[in-house]
Amino acid sequence: MADMLSTTAAAPAVIRRADYRAPDWLIPDIALDFDLDPALTRVEATLSVTRNGDHDRPLRLDGDGLVPLAVKVDGRTLEEAEWHLEAGALIIPLSGDSHRIETLVELAPQSNSKLMGLYASGGLLCTQCEAEGFRRITFFPDRPDVLSRYSVRMSADKARFPILLANGDPIEQADLPDGRHSALWNDPFPKPCYLFALVAGDLACNADSFVTMSGREVQLGIWVKEADLPRTAHAMKALKDSMAWDERVYGREYDLDVFNIVAVADFNFGAMENKGLNIFNSRYILADPETATDIDYDGVEGVVAHEYFHNWSGNRVTCRDWFQLSLKEGFTVFRDQNFSADMGSHAVKRIEDVRILRAAQFQEDSGPLAHPIRPESYMEISNFYTATIYNKGAEVIRMMALMLGAERFRAGSDLYFDRHDGEAATCEDFVAAMEEGGQIDLGQFRRWYEQAGTPHVRALLSHDPVAQSVELTLEQTVPATPGQPDKQPMAIPLRTALFDPATGQHHGDELLMLTEPKQSFTFTGFAAAPVLSINRGFSAPVIVETNRSQADLAFLSAHDDDPFARYEAMQQLMVNVLIGRIAGQDTDDGAVIDAIRNTLTDPALDPAFVAETIRLPSEAYLGDQMKIVDPDAIHAARDALQTKIGAELMPLWRDIHAKTKANAFSISSAAKGARKLRNAALHYLVASGAQDGPAIAFGQFSEADNMTERQAALGTLANGSSPEREAALDIFYNRYSADALTLDKWFQTQAFALHPDAVEQVQALGQHKDFTLANPNRVRSLYGAFAGNQWAFHHGSGKGYALVADCIIALDKLNPQTAARLVPPLGRWKRFDEGRAALMRAQLQRILAQPGLSKDVTEQASKSLE
Ligand code: PHE
Ligand code: ZN
Repeated sequence: MADMLSTTAAAPAVIRRADYRAPDWLIPDIALDFDLDPALTRVEATLSVTRNGDHDRPLRLDGDGLVPLAVKVDGRTLEEAEWHLEAGALIIPLSGDSHRIETLVELAPQSNSKLMGLYASGGLLCTQCEAEGFRRITFFPDRPDVLSRYSVRMSADKARFPILLANGDPIEQADLPDGRHSALWNDPFPKPCYLFALVAGDLACNADSFVTMSGREVQLGIWVKEADLPRTAHAMKALKDSMAWDERVYGREYDLDVFNIVAVADFNFGAMENKGLNIFNSRYILADPETATDIDYDGVEGVVAHEYFHNWSGNRVTCRDWFQLSLKEGFTVFRDQNFSADMGSHAVKRIEDVRILRAAQFQEDSGPLAHPIRPESYMEISNFYTATIYNKGAEVIRMMALMLGAERFRAGSDLYFDRHDGEAATCEDFVAAMEEGGQIDLGQFRRWYEQAGTPHVRALLSHDPVAQSVELTLEQTVPATPGQPDKQPMAIPLRTALFDPATGQHHGDELLMLTEPKQSFTFTGFAAAPVLSINRGFSAPVIVETNRSQADLAFLSAHDDDPFARYEAMQQLMVNVLIGRIAGQDTDDGAVIDAIRNTLTDPALDPAFVAETIRLPSEAYLGDQMKIVDPDAIHAARDALQTKIGAELMPLWRDIHAKTKANAFSISSAAKGARKLRNAALHYLVASGAQDGPAIAFGQFSEADNMTERQAALGTLANGSSPEREAALDIFYNRYSADALTLDKWFQTQAFALHPDAVEQVQALGQHKDFTLANPNRVRSLYGAFAGNQWAFHHGSGKGYALVADCIIALDKLNPQTAARLVPPLGRWKRFDEGRAALMRAQLQRILAQPGLSKDVTEQASKSLE
């Protein structure tokens, strides 16, 4: 591998956490002057620089693709010999301890296809600076531990760019000659450059206000294209709810007088927490019943909250370096998860979050790209915006919150915010504050920051009828991961209960701390053998293996009072049947069908919870339970069980489908739950093979007054080959082809379809006139979705692999960040049979052999081959 890299391209440099050094120069103030134009923008920067410590190193200002047109020090223009460029950075030797530096550069935002730095999107000009985009705008020490006060002047053509926004507070506006105008913004809070933002364009505003807990009125604005204004109400509600929640739950108040959000169509990630000026992928702002599903509505609420919460966890207290990324992201995901739970159902939110964790993070943790939540090294930081940093990072915070309890956790977070306000902090700072504020020893717990890999816990319960006691033996192993062959035992908090099968009650929920490789816990007072409920609420992000029988699981699926554990028992029941079938055994599915029937007919249960628990584990999750994934056998077994469940419970599905039809649309939790259950019923009804299935689905598709039911019906039809499938796809296309976000669903539904011709269909869609590599949402809707469709992507011929590799190669030339995010599915070759593994490796090698490959894709593809 090393040989291959050195013959094709120079291997990208590795950045190490251990090499951290404080910055040589500080920049307390920066003034920026933008002369904006999509074809040619001029950027003048004035930096006050001060020497940090006693050294004689020159000033080094990062730059990426910039040419300095002028460099001044203390007002004097430097000769070309007085500065030089080194790997894009501007190096200026300086004699004194503080100076004023001025630079001038020119940019071409309209040809910036990477969507990093200043770029054009749908007639707007906007910026994206995290992680290292500011260096594409001006020369600057592009690292999060350099905090500066920003003053930003923008001038632009007033007709094309009537709105000019930047961080902080608006100071003044003026009209200029030639139809131009200007605006000046000031941000009083020192911030790292990754939080810089500006937006210029023809935008309409949903304006509102919020009065903070100390009585200050904050002006809120959500800025979108005029036509999209009616789709901003949900985002505005989410913003106000988030502001109130952070005051109530964390005591954190908003600090500026304005808070603006802008929605843009072309965006590499979900959204960005720029100080006072969040910039969003429009898919996380715009929502109305006609075009957004309930999942979209929840996504808007969660991401608006996430970015808002960053104002404290990320902006007021930021990161010292990018190895600390989980400090802001893990904590902020934890905060947004709890917010969303408070706004809806705790049980359902937890189930959804664990499903995402298992689908994305467990896969990452068991593959070639596994890394700890605080990585030790990287080549390209944008490859580390991962499910591990975000979602496992959130789980690690959640475990601390559980061990501490609400009050001590709040004491810890108060200490953290107070102690580090205005600073660039580390994960260690956070843990130390929790330790001190929460009065707990987190010594061993810190291993969650150091060790990658999902711990496995074996839990064996044995009953002694004579002593009337039970012994619970817990054994943990942490698998080897790249660079970490040997692991130390982790501190694993496991919420546990023992149920008396006779009464259906348990003897209290206990938090067991597993800290040794092997540990036993004894419980007395059990005349009969109890049933074990463990990792309740998913108290630790681990894989638990137990010796529970199908009867035990069926019992828990009906009686466990912890909703997550109840869901989990049901899933395990299904997994056991399916894994047996995949291995060619004729396992009995009676317990599964009974459990689904019981769940469907239990009037005490929330319909949203019912819908979650009755769905079969995904094909990918079943694959994760196997040493070598067999995509075809998994699909066949799951499909057959689905058909059987559909047929055996047919009257229930028909009844539920009819009963849950609403008279009018509402976005309440109850209405969302009813739709979720209705869609689940439709799914089983069609899966049963019932003659009238496609007609019923088509009926729902046609009659629905909301996208949740329309898209679910379309998805159900897309799995089959009925005439209704083509009819519905055509109707959907014709109705929504002008609306990019909704058209994404048309692409995505076909890419997700469990259809034998999915590969050919995706290939054809890649040539469709509405497909474009320039828009990351469109790319993700087609190729991202397809790579997550296990059966289709892993087609034995390897044609699915070639399709995704072709996309990566083409996209890398335009947008390496988004291209790199398509690589990991190809890297899971060790989990597949030799034939597939060889085909996957061949595609990775083909990618790596491309001349001029980006650092982003090089890192992901080369690590994936190891
Ligand atoms: N910091 C953003 C968030 O999680 C994510 C992001 C990273 C967005 C890099 C854009 C670029 O909220
Ligand atoms: Zn974030």
